[in-house]
Amino acid sequence: MILLALETSCDETSAAVVRDGRVLSSAVSSQIELHAEYGGVVPELAAREHLRNLIPVVQTALRDARVQPGQLDAVAATQGPGLPMALLVGFKAAQAVAFTLRKPFVGINHHEAHLYSPWISQQPAPLPVAIPHGGISPRTLSPMKVSADSRRRLRFRDSMHGIFFADFTAFQPNVSLIVSGGHTILVKVESELKHRVLGSTVDDAAGECFDKTGKLMGLPYPAGPEIDRLAEQGNPKAYEFPRPLLNDPGDDFSFSGLKTSVRYFLRDHPGILDDAQRVRDLCASIQAAIVEVLVKKTIRAAKRNHVRCVTASGGVTCNRSLRRELARACEREGFELRLAEKSLCTDNAAMIAILAERKLFHKVPATDLDAEIQPGWVLT
Ligand code: KG4
Ligand code: ZN
Repeated sequence: MILLALETSCDETSAAVVRDGRVLSSAVSSQIELHAEYGGVVPELAAREHLRNLIPVVQTALRDARVQPGQLDAVAATQGPGLPMALLVGFKAAQAVAFTLRKPFVGINHHEAHLYSPWISQQPAPLPVAIPHGGISPRTLSPMKVSADSRRRLRFRDSMHGIFFADFTAFQPNVSLIVSGGHTILVKVESELKHRVLGSTVDDAAGECFDKTGKLMGLPYPAGPEIDRLAEQGNPKAYEFPRPLLNDPGDDFSFSGLKTSVRYFLRDHPGILDDAQRVRDLCASIQAAIVEVLVKKTIRAAKRNHVRCVTASGGVTCNRSLRRELARACEREGFELRLAEKSLCTDNAAMIAILAERKLFHKVPATDLDAEIQPGWVLT
Protein backbone atom coordinates (compact mmCIF):
# COMPACT_ATOMS: atom_id res chain seq x y z
CA MET A 1 0.00 0.00 0.00
CA ILE A 2 1.23 3.50 -0.85
CA LEU A 3 -0.08 6.18 1.51
CA LEU A 4 0.37 9.97 1.63
CA ALA A 5 0.01 11.77 4.98
CA LEU A 6 -0.10 15.46 5.88
CA GLU A 7 0.72 17.05 9.24
CA THR A 8 -0.10 20.71 9.97
CA SER A 9 -1.14 20.69 13.64
CA CYS A 10 1.27 23.37 14.84
CA ASP A 11 4.28 25.04 13.23
CA GLU A 12 5.67 22.39 10.87
CA THR A 13 4.19 21.74 7.44
CA SER A 14 4.95 18.13 6.62
CA ALA A 15 4.08 15.50 4.04
CA ALA A 16 5.28 11.90 3.88
CA VAL A 17 4.79 8.91 1.63
CA VAL A 18 5.02 5.38 3.04
CA ARG A 19 4.80 2.02 1.38
CA ASP A 20 4.30 -1.17 3.41
CA GLY A 21 6.00 0.22 6.52
CA ARG A 22 8.83 1.95 4.68
CA VAL A 23 9.05 5.73 4.75
CA LEU A 24 9.67 6.56 1.09
CA SER A 25 9.87 10.27 1.80
CA SER A 26 9.25 12.77 4.56
CA ALA A 27 9.42 16.48 3.88
CA VAL A 28 9.18 18.90 6.79
CA SER A 29 9.13 22.66 6.38
CA SER A 30 9.65 24.36 9.72
CA GLN A 31 8.22 27.76 10.66
CA ILE A 32 10.42 28.14 13.73
CA GLU A 33 12.26 31.21 12.42
CA LEU A 34 8.97 32.96 11.66
CA HIS A 35 7.55 32.44 15.15
CA ALA A 36 10.85 33.03 16.98
CA GLU A 37 10.38 36.74 16.35
CA TYR A 38 7.22 36.63 18.50
CA GLY A 39 8.62 34.32 21.19
CA GLY A 40 6.04 31.59 20.47
CA VAL A 41 3.72 30.18 17.83
CA VAL A 42 1.24 32.75 16.43
CA PRO A 43 -1.75 30.65 15.25
CA GLU A 44 -2.84 33.02 12.48
CA LEU A 45 0.65 33.15 10.99
CA ALA A 46 1.04 29.40 11.32
CA ALA A 47 -2.13 28.78 9.30
CA ARG A 48 -1.06 31.22 6.60
CA GLU A 49 2.35 29.58 6.31
CA HIS A 50 0.75 26.13 6.04
CA LEU A 51 -1.43 27.42 3.21
CA ARG A 52 1.60 28.80 1.37
CA ASN A 53 3.85 25.80 1.95
CA LEU A 54 1.56 22.79 1.73
CA ILE A 55 1.60 22.21 -2.05
CA PRO A 56 5.40 22.56 -2.45
CA VAL A 57 5.92 20.29 0.57
CA VAL A 58 3.56 17.64 -0.84
CA GLN A 59 5.23 17.89 -4.24
CA THR A 60 8.62 17.40 -2.59
CA ALA A 61 7.38 14.33 -0.71
CA LEU A 62 5.87 12.79 -3.87
CA ARG A 63 8.96 13.59 -5.93
CA ASP A 64 11.35 12.15 -3.33
CA ALA A 65 9.22 9.01 -3.10
CA ARG A 66 8.98 8.85 -6.92
CA VAL A 67 5.26 8.42 -6.61
CA GLN A 68 2.54 10.01 -8.73
CA PRO A 69 -0.74 11.04 -7.03
CA GLY A 70 -2.58 8.38 -9.07
CA GLN A 71 -0.49 5.65 -7.44
CA LEU A 72 -1.71 6.47 -3.92
CA ASP A 73 -3.87 3.83 -2.23
CA ALA A 74 -4.84 5.98 0.77
CA VAL A 75 -4.49 9.46 2.25
CA ALA A 76 -4.17 10.52 5.91
CA ALA A 77 -3.83 13.70 7.95
CA THR A 78 -3.60 14.86 11.53
CA GLN A 79 -7.14 15.44 12.80
CA GLY A 80 -6.14 16.77 16.25
CA PRO A 81 -5.12 17.92 18.74
CA GLY A 82 -3.59 21.16 17.55
CA LEU A 83 -4.23 24.75 16.51
CA PRO A 84 -7.64 24.79 14.78
CA MET A 85 -6.71 26.98 11.83
CA ALA A 86 -3.46 25.09 11.30
CA LEU A 87 -5.11 21.67 11.49
CA LEU A 88 -7.76 22.70 8.97
CA VAL A 89 -5.18 23.30 6.23
CA GLY A 90 -3.72 19.78 6.10
CA PHE A 91 -6.88 17.94 7.12
CA LYS A 92 -9.17 19.49 4.52
CA ALA A 93 -6.52 19.25 1.80
CA ALA A 94 -6.02 15.54 2.53
CA GLN A 95 -9.77 14.91 2.46
CA ALA A 96 -9.96 16.68 -0.90
CA VAL A 97 -7.14 14.51 -2.31
CA ALA A 98 -8.85 11.34 -1.03
CA PHE A 99 -12.15 12.50 -2.55
CA THR A 100 -10.56 13.21 -5.91
CA LEU A 101 -8.67 9.91 -6.00
CA ARG A 102 -11.61 7.96 -4.51
CA LYS A 103 -9.31 6.44 -1.92
CA PRO A 104 -9.77 5.84 1.82
CA PHE A 105 -8.98 8.71 4.17
CA VAL A 106 -7.66 8.34 7.73
CA GLY A 107 -7.79 11.11 10.38
CA ILE A 108 -5.05 10.60 12.96
CA ASN A 109 -4.58 11.66 16.57
CA HIS A 110 -1.22 13.46 16.67
CA HIS A 111 -0.26 12.00 20.06
CA GLU A 112 -1.16 8.49 19.02
CA ALA A 113 1.23 8.95 16.09
CA HIS A 114 4.00 10.07 18.48
CA LEU A 115 3.15 7.03 20.65
CA TYR A 116 3.99 4.51 17.93
CA SER A 117 6.89 6.48 16.40
CA PRO A 118 9.57 4.65 18.46
CA TRP A 119 8.83 1.57 16.33
CA ILE A 120 10.06 3.38 13.24
CA SER A 121 13.78 2.86 13.01
CA GLN A 122 16.56 3.88 10.73
CA GLN A 123 18.00 1.31 8.39
CA PRO A 124 21.75 0.75 8.80
CA ALA A 125 22.40 2.15 5.34
CA PRO A 126 20.16 4.12 2.98
CA LEU A 127 18.30 1.74 0.73
CA PRO A 128 17.70 2.47 -2.90
CA VAL A 129 14.35 4.14 -3.36
CA ALA A 130 11.81 1.56 -4.37
CA ILE A 131 9.97 2.21 -7.57
CA PRO A 132 6.57 0.57 -7.29
CA HIS A 133 5.70 -2.15 -9.75
CA GLY A 134 4.64 -0.53 -12.96
CA GLY A 135 5.89 2.68 -11.42
CA ILE A 136 7.74 5.63 -12.73
CA SER A 137 11.28 6.72 -13.07
CA PRO A 138 12.28 10.16 -11.78
CA ARG A 139 12.41 11.42 -15.36
CA THR A 140 8.71 10.82 -15.96
CA LEU A 141 7.73 12.90 -12.93
CA SER A 142 6.05 16.18 -13.69
CA PRO A 143 8.19 19.21 -12.86
CA MET A 144 7.48 21.16 -9.67
CA LYS A 145 4.75 23.54 -10.73
CA VAL A 146 5.34 26.00 -7.92
CA SER A 147 7.00 29.37 -8.20
CA ALA A 148 10.72 29.73 -7.58
CA ASP A 149 9.83 32.16 -4.80
CA SER A 150 7.71 29.52 -3.12
CA ARG A 151 10.58 27.05 -3.24
CA ARG A 152 13.10 29.56 -1.89
CA ARG A 153 10.89 30.35 1.08
CA LEU A 154 10.70 26.74 2.18
CA ARG A 155 13.18 25.84 4.86
CA PHE A 156 13.27 22.09 4.90
CA ARG A 157 14.21 20.57 8.21
CA ASP A 158 14.58 17.28 6.45
CA SER A 159 13.60 15.39 3.43
CA MET A 160 14.57 11.77 3.53
CA HIS A 161 14.42 8.84 1.19
CA GLY A 162 13.50 5.32 2.17
CA ILE A 163 15.76 5.01 5.18
CA PHE A 164 13.14 4.57 7.89
CA PHE A 165 11.12 1.45 8.42
CA ALA A 166 8.36 0.61 10.92
CA ASP A 167 8.96 -2.81 12.41
CA PHE A 168 5.91 -3.89 14.35
CA THR A 169 7.01 -7.51 14.40
CA ALA A 170 9.36 -6.36 17.19
CA PHE A 171 6.46 -4.83 19.11
CA GLN A 172 6.06 -5.65 22.76
CA PRO A 173 3.91 -4.18 25.54
CA ASN A 174 5.47 -0.99 26.87
CA VAL A 175 5.13 2.10 28.97
CA SER A 176 5.58 5.12 26.75
CA LEU A 177 6.54 8.71 27.54
CA ILE A 178 5.28 11.34 25.09
CA VAL A 179 7.01 14.66 25.73
CA SER A 180 6.30 17.54 23.41
CA GLY A 181 5.83 21.30 23.51
CA GLY A 182 2.23 21.07 24.63
CA HIS A 183 1.94 17.68 26.32
CA THR A 184 3.61 15.30 28.74
CA ILE A 185 1.82 11.96 28.75
CA LEU A 186 2.55 8.51 30.17
CA VAL A 187 0.79 5.69 28.36
CA LYS A 188 0.56 1.94 28.80
CA VAL A 189 0.59 0.28 25.38
CA GLU A 190 -0.74 -3.25 25.68
CA SER A 191 -0.67 -4.21 22.04
CA GLU A 192 -0.59 -2.45 18.73
CA LEU A 193 -3.34 0.23 18.70
CA LYS A 194 -4.46 -0.77 22.23
CA HIS A 195 -3.33 1.71 24.85
CA ARG A 196 -4.43 3.56 27.98
CA VAL A 197 -3.22 6.91 29.30
CA LEU A 198 -1.78 6.56 32.81
CA GLY A 199 -1.14 10.22 33.51
CA SER A 200 -0.42 13.57 31.95
CA THR A 201 0.53 17.08 32.94
CA VAL A 202 -1.82 19.00 35.18
CA ASP A 203 -0.37 22.34 34.02
CA ASP A 204 2.72 23.06 31.88
CA ALA A 205 4.25 20.38 29.68
CA ALA A 206 7.96 19.51 29.90
CA GLY A 207 8.65 21.23 26.55
CA GLU A 208 6.76 24.29 27.73
CA CYS A 209 8.91 24.33 30.88
CA PHE A 210 12.07 24.27 28.74
CA ASP A 211 10.69 27.01 26.48
CA LYS A 212 9.32 29.27 29.23
CA THR A 213 12.33 29.06 31.57
CA GLY A 214 14.56 29.66 28.54
CA LYS A 215 12.49 32.71 27.66
CA LEU A 216 13.02 34.03 31.19
CA MET A 217 16.75 33.68 30.53
CA GLY A 218 16.40 35.53 27.24
CA LEU A 219 17.00 32.49 25.03
CA PRO A 220 15.34 32.41 21.59
CA TYR A 221 12.17 30.37 20.95
CA PRO A 222 12.03 27.40 21.16
CA ALA A 223 14.48 27.37 24.05
CA GLY A 224 14.54 23.58 24.55
CA PRO A 225 17.33 22.83 22.04
CA GLU A 226 19.35 25.83 23.28
CA ILE A 227 19.09 24.75 26.93
CA ASP A 228 20.17 21.26 25.83
CA ARG A 229 23.23 22.76 24.08
CA LEU A 230 24.25 25.08 26.94
CA ALA A 231 23.61 22.42 29.59
CA GLU A 232 26.20 20.10 28.01
CA GLN A 233 28.91 22.36 29.50
CA GLY A 234 27.12 23.17 32.72
CA ASN A 235 27.02 21.66 36.20
CA PRO A 236 23.61 20.05 36.82
CA LYS A 237 24.19 20.22 40.58
CA ALA A 238 25.04 23.95 40.65
CA TYR A 239 21.53 25.02 41.64
CA GLU A 240 18.72 23.10 43.29
CA PHE A 241 15.28 23.31 41.69
CA PRO A 242 12.09 21.49 42.74
CA ARG A 243 11.17 18.13 41.21
CA PRO A 244 7.35 18.56 41.08
CA LEU A 245 5.21 15.48 41.83
CA LEU A 246 8.34 13.29 41.85
CA ASN A 247 7.24 11.47 44.97
CA ASP A 248 3.55 11.53 44.17
CA PRO A 249 2.33 7.94 43.65
CA GLY A 250 0.27 8.92 40.59
CA ASP A 251 1.48 9.23 37.00
CA ASP A 252 0.60 12.91 36.50
CA PHE A 253 3.20 15.62 35.93
CA SER A 254 3.37 19.29 36.88
CA PHE A 255 6.03 21.71 35.69
CA SER A 256 4.62 25.18 36.37
CA GLY A 257 6.09 25.27 39.91
CA LEU A 258 9.55 24.63 38.51
CA LYS A 259 9.08 27.49 36.05
CA THR A 260 8.00 29.80 38.90
CA SER A 261 11.00 28.85 41.02
CA VAL A 262 13.30 29.71 38.09
CA ARG A 263 11.56 33.10 37.85
CA TYR A 264 12.21 33.78 41.58
CA PHE A 265 15.77 32.49 41.24
CA LEU A 266 16.46 34.99 38.46
CA ARG A 267 14.84 37.78 40.49
CA ASP A 268 17.06 36.94 43.47
CA HIS A 269 20.25 36.56 41.42
CA PRO A 270 20.36 39.67 39.26
CA GLY A 271 23.42 39.65 37.06
CA ILE A 272 23.62 35.86 36.72
CA LEU A 273 22.71 36.13 33.04
CA ASP A 274 25.87 38.18 32.40
CA ASP A 275 28.05 35.24 33.41
CA ALA A 276 28.23 32.67 30.60
CA GLN A 277 29.34 29.77 32.82
CA ARG A 278 26.62 30.43 35.40
CA VAL A 279 24.05 30.46 32.57
CA ARG A 280 25.32 27.05 31.45
CA ASP A 281 25.09 25.82 35.07
CA LEU A 282 21.58 27.21 35.33
CA CYS A 283 20.52 25.45 32.11
CA ALA A 284 22.06 22.17 33.31
CA SER A 285 20.31 22.48 36.70
CA ILE A 286 16.88 23.21 35.19
CA GLN A 287 17.31 20.38 32.70
CA ALA A 288 18.37 17.99 35.47
CA ALA A 289 15.16 18.73 37.40
CA ILE A 290 12.95 18.12 34.34
CA VAL A 291 14.82 15.00 33.25
CA GLU A 292 14.86 13.43 36.73
CA VAL A 293 11.09 13.75 37.03
CA LEU A 294 10.48 12.36 33.54
CA VAL A 295 12.85 9.41 33.93
CA LYS A 296 11.92 8.37 37.48
CA LYS A 297 8.18 8.56 36.86
CA THR A 298 8.46 6.64 33.59
CA ILE A 299 10.53 3.86 35.17
CA ARG A 300 8.20 3.65 38.15
CA ALA A 301 5.17 3.32 35.86
CA ALA A 302 6.94 0.65 33.80
CA LYS A 303 7.68 -1.39 36.92
CA ARG A 304 4.17 -1.05 38.29
CA ASN A 305 2.63 -2.08 34.97
CA HIS A 306 4.89 -5.13 34.61
CA VAL A 307 6.11 -4.35 31.11
CA ARG A 308 9.64 -5.06 29.90
CA CYS A 309 9.91 -2.22 27.42
CA VAL A 310 9.99 1.57 27.73
CA THR A 311 9.54 3.92 24.77
CA ALA A 312 9.76 7.70 24.40
CA SER A 313 8.79 10.20 21.71
CA GLY A 314 7.91 13.84 21.05
CA GLY A 315 10.10 16.93 20.62
CA VAL A 316 11.70 16.82 24.08
CA THR A 317 12.96 13.29 23.35
CA CYS A 318 15.60 15.05 21.21
CA ASN A 319 17.15 16.17 24.50
CA ARG A 320 20.51 14.49 24.94
CA SER A 321 20.37 14.31 28.72
CA LEU A 322 16.89 12.74 28.65
CA ARG A 323 18.08 10.15 26.12
CA ARG A 324 21.18 9.34 28.20
CA GLU A 325 19.34 9.16 31.53
CA LEU A 326 16.53 7.02 30.14
CA ALA A 327 19.14 4.68 28.65
CA ARG A 328 21.01 4.47 31.98
CA ALA A 329 17.87 3.86 34.03
CA CYS A 330 16.53 1.24 31.62
CA GLU A 331 19.83 -0.60 31.59
CA ARG A 332 20.00 -0.55 35.39
CA GLU A 333 16.41 -1.79 35.75
CA GLY A 334 16.51 -4.30 32.90
CA PHE A 335 14.07 -2.60 30.50
CA GLU A 336 14.46 -2.57 26.75
CA LEU A 337 14.43 1.06 25.61
CA ARG A 338 13.15 2.33 22.28
CA LEU A 339 13.61 6.03 21.67
CA ALA A 340 12.05 7.66 18.62
CA GLU A 341 14.72 8.60 16.07
CA LYS A 342 15.65 12.25 16.58
CA SER A 343 14.27 13.40 13.23
CA LEU A 344 10.96 11.70 14.09
CA CYS A 345 10.72 13.25 17.59
CA THR A 346 9.64 16.69 16.45
CA ASP A 347 6.50 16.97 14.36
CA ASN A 348 6.53 15.08 11.06
CA ALA A 349 4.08 13.40 8.70
CA ALA A 350 6.05 10.14 8.56
CA MET A 351 4.67 9.08 11.95
CA ILE A 352 1.15 10.06 10.83
CA ALA A 353 1.55 7.97 7.67
CA ILE A 354 2.89 4.91 9.49
CA LEU A 355 0.06 4.92 12.05
CA ALA A 356 -2.56 5.44 9.32
CA GLU A 357 -1.15 2.49 7.40
CA ARG A 358 -1.24 0.30 10.53
CA LYS A 359 -4.87 1.32 11.13
CA LEU A 360 -5.87 0.31 7.62
CA PHE A 361 -3.85 -2.92 7.99
CA HIS A 362 -5.79 -3.70 11.20
CA LYS A 363 -9.09 -2.91 9.43
CA VAL A 364 -9.89 0.18 11.48
CA PRO A 365 -12.71 1.92 9.53
CA ALA A 366 -11.66 4.88 7.37
CA THR A 367 -12.59 8.42 8.45
CA ASP A 368 -15.52 10.17 6.74
CA LEU A 369 -14.61 12.65 4.03
CA ASP A 370 -16.76 15.26 5.76
CA ALA A 371 -15.34 14.59 9.25
CA GLU A 372 -14.22 17.68 11.14
CA ILE A 373 -10.93 18.48 12.84
CA GLN A 374 -10.72 17.78 16.58
CA PRO A 375 -8.46 20.53 18.02
CA GLY A 376 -9.00 19.32 21.60
CA TRP A 377 -8.75 15.56 20.91
CA VAL A 378 -7.44 14.00 24.12
CA LEU A 379 -5.59 10.70 23.98
CA THR A 380 -7.25 8.22 26.34
O1 KG4 B 1 6.68 17.40 19.40
P1 KG4 B 1 7.06 18.82 19.09
O2 KG4 B 1 7.85 19.11 17.84
O3 KG4 B 1 5.81 19.75 18.99
C1 KG4 B 1 4.65 19.58 19.71
O4 KG4 B 1 3.83 18.71 19.31
O5 KG4 B 1 4.52 20.32 20.72
O6 KG4 B 1 7.86 19.39 20.36
C2 KG4 B 1 8.39 20.69 20.43
C3 KG4 B 1 9.03 20.88 21.81
C4 KG4 B 1 9.44 22.33 22.11
O7 KG4 B 1 8.98 22.65 23.40
C5 KG4 B 1 10.96 22.26 22.08
O8 KG4 B 1 11.58 23.21 22.93
C6 KG4 B 1 11.21 20.86 22.56
O9 KG4 B 1 10.23 20.10 21.91
N1 KG4 B 1 12.55 20.39 22.19
C7 KG4 B 1 13.53 20.17 23.09
C8 KG4 B 1 14.66 19.76 22.35
N2 KG4 B 1 14.33 19.75 21.03
C9 KG4 B 1 13.02 20.13 20.95
N3 KG4 B 1 13.53 20.27 24.43
C10 KG4 B 1 14.67 19.98 25.06
N4 KG4 B 1 15.81 19.59 24.43
C11 KG4 B 1 15.85 19.47 23.09
N5 KG4 B 1 16.96 19.08 22.48
ZN1 ZN C 1 4.08 16.72 18.37
